[in-house]
Amino acid sequence: PIPVILDCDPGHDDAFAIMLAAAHPAVRLLGITTVAGNQTVEKTTLNARRVCTAAGIDGVPVAAGLARPLHGPGIVAPDIHGESGLDGPGFGPPTVPVDGRDAVTFLRDTLLTHPEPVTLVPTGPLTNIATLLLTHPDAAARIERIVFMGGSTGRGNRTPAAEFNVLADPEAADIVLGSGLHVTMIGLNVSHRALATGEVVDRFRALGTPLAHLCTELLTYFGDTYREVFGFPAPPLHDPLTVAHVITPGLVRLVHAPVAVELTGTHTRGATVVDLDGVTGAPPNAHVGVDVDVAAYWDLLVDAVRVLGAP
Ligand code: BDR
Ligand code: CA
Repeated sequence: PIPVILDCDPGHDDAFAIMLAAAHPAVRLLGITTVAGNQTVEKTTLNARRVCTAAGIDGVPVAAGLARPLHGPGIVAPDIHGESGLDGPGFGPPTVPVDGRDAVTFLRDTLLTHPEPVTLVPTGPLTNIATLLLTHPDAAARIERIVFMGGSTGRGNRTPAAEFNVLADPEAADIVLGSGLHVTMIGLNVSHRALATGEVVDRFRALGTPLAHLCTELLTYFGDTYREVFGFPAPPLHDPLTVAHVITPGLVRLVHAPVAVELTGTHTRGATVVDLDGVTGAPPNAHVGVDVDVAAYWDLLVDAVRVLGAP
């Protein structure tokens, strides 16, 4: 199995990324690190523990990460994910503990001690990952690759130009994209093709387990906010695309291209400027998602929830 650390801010779609990474035999989930993003890091850490508890994921360390971006105060997304960051279902008290180490220390320790290079899968702002790269170059050298959800080849969501995860910490995204590591960016241009329609929600419901019921509640809440805020007919499940790509190479079609992060624009801070046509002459620095096999994607997710929910 491919050793993976998932760095996330759950978050409705992050919750599905956790479940897919934990359930699929092609992945060995070494840990879950959390970061401020959809909500404060206290809330996203609690939510990661809630998801693990509800899905029966034990033995995977959960380490709490940074509370603020590299610069400025940070943003949260209660309009999309609610005050808890994971509104909709009721959760019991989490039984999964928090690791004693902070996320960056956990990442460093795991990268340095795991016998093979480790794939990092960030599905929130890139604050923890950029901090690791800046402070622990020895550990960074043990990264196999970084597959992150964020950015877009086109429009944004939090602003017309910027996607939420990149807008939440543009300097961190700039550091990751400028790192020289093998970086894969899966952004809104791909995730907006993977909408959890009524048919998809019915497939989860048909599994008939308590976990499947929880998943339908997550998708219903997420669908309601996406309809109200963006006018979408169904919610896009952005984050698990990263894990699905690690599991099934080819599920997301990629192009190798130069990607720059706008750090100063008057109206465009946090935009990912992707040179798909090679007009800048800049060297490619990222493998950028441009399409997805939607049917294969839902098969993977439904199967993950089936496996985890089995008595
Ligand atoms: C990203 O922002 C968050 O709200 C989601 O969890 C996803 O990671 C989409 O822009
Ligand atoms: Ca996320």
